Amino acid sequence: MNEKRYHVDAAIAEGVGYTIVENASLEGRNTFRVPARANLLIDVRRPQALGELFDYPMVKNGPLLVLGEGSNVLLTRDWPGVVLSMVALGIKECGEEDGRTRIRVEAGEKWNDFVHWTLAHDYSGLENLVLIPGTVGAAPIQNIGAYGVEVAGFIAEVEAWDRHARQLVRLGNAQCRFGYRNSLFKRDRDRYIVTAVDFLLPRQRELHLDYAGVREELRDLGIDKPNARSVAEAIARLRTRKLPNPSLVGNAGSFFQNPVVDAQRAQFLHDQHPAMPTWKLPDSSVKLSAAWLIEASGFKGLRRGLAAVSDQHALVLVNLGGARGNEIRELAEDIRQTVLDRFGVQLEAEPRII
Ligand code: FAD
Ligand code: EPU
Repeated sequence: MNEKRYHVDAAIAEGVGYTIVENASLEGRNTFRVPARANLLIDVRRPQALGELFDYPMVKNGPLLVLGEGSNVLLTRDWPGVVLSMVALGIKECGEEDGRTRIRVEAGEKWNDFVHWTLAHDYSGLENLVLIPGTVGAAPIQNIGAYGVEVAGFIAEVEAWDRHARQLVRLGNAQCRFGYRNSLFKRDRDRYIVTAVDFLLPRQRELHLDYAGVREELRDLGIDKPNARSVAEAIARLRTRKLPNPSLVGNAGSFFQNPVVDAQRAQFLHDQHPAMPTWKLPDSSVKLSAAWLIEASGFKGLRRGLAAVSDQHALVLVNLGGARGNEIRELAEDIRQTVLDRFGVQLEAEPRII
């Protein structure tokens, strides 16, 4: 549909460091596989090119949307401005610090490829985060987490283009203000464009095996002395069974965050629903299972037109093929309202809804 590409020969393109497509389709750029278009789509291969790009009024003044692999967004309309994607690649070991190695990773690297790189190079720490889709640049945005581990525990610094200061800045771990599915980058949305992440990784570290199912999976694999690689294998198997594969069925992983309530509210709900899982947090608040609340509200496997709730996992909304973003958003809204009416618990979407 009238997609116009700027033809720049390879040598010039390398020098410029970015490519621009006008009226670009985003359907292949989001894992829900819903249709949407962008006025301009800019793929940036060199972070240094951002200075020049942000001199263009359309890029500088927006509206600007930064997109990685699109595995945590729901597009419900066309984007009336610039969509910018950091596609720079590279992984570099930068020396030892207190027994750990600093590793700089460019934003465009795929997260799961980086996890496998660390395992192949005998680093440990990221094994529980195997098979999470998306780019390294997006990992700090919601502080990706799985199986009892969050990426924040391994990030030394984030390099980002600061649209306010109009320059590349480096933010230390504390400055990133990481929390459960949260960070400075989510709170101050679209101010920072992450260009690279510096990790600090040890060679050896105590394994985290306490999340439900991990020890059982290792046992089924016949592993009695697990290491980082075997834990990654066990978790990859668990994930593959639990979650629909986005390359087969459009989805964005968990559609809602797990809600956190105060201890009193949790006790009240638990008295009424003794089967409801709860997890006490260090500050005495309690995390509930969004999946359980949604399943108990009767939504698991429910189909509405071309949108549905996965029959594999109640927290995952899926595109059965040909759904538009708005159909998925309406189903999500129905779930949110039903859970609120039934349990008095407010669910918050995890993916960014555009
Ligand atoms: P996108 O979806 O493209 O963007 C997500 C957000 O980050 C948007 O707000 C975007 O504007 C912003 N962003 C992206 N790149 C940059 C950048 N370079 N600079 C600034 N902002 C940027 N998440 C978990 O935490 N744990 C899981 O276990 C997990 N499992 C998943 C399983 C499946 C099957 C799927 C589909 C998703 C899952 N997710 C999970 C969610 C998703 O994988 C992560 O949030 C991932 O980090 C998103 O990466 P992305 O490159 O696709 O980002
Ligand atoms: N459950 C149900 N019904 C279901 C599925 C799960 O009732 O259909 C209940 C079960 O009691 C189960 C509990 O929910 O014990 C927890 O399920 P699971 O272990 O699958 O974890 P989750 O809380 O649903 C979270 C993350 C995932 C992450 C897993 C593993 C959030 C919002 N989601 O899911 O992250 O992979 O834990 O750590 O925190 C994502 O963010 O996109 C994502 C997939």
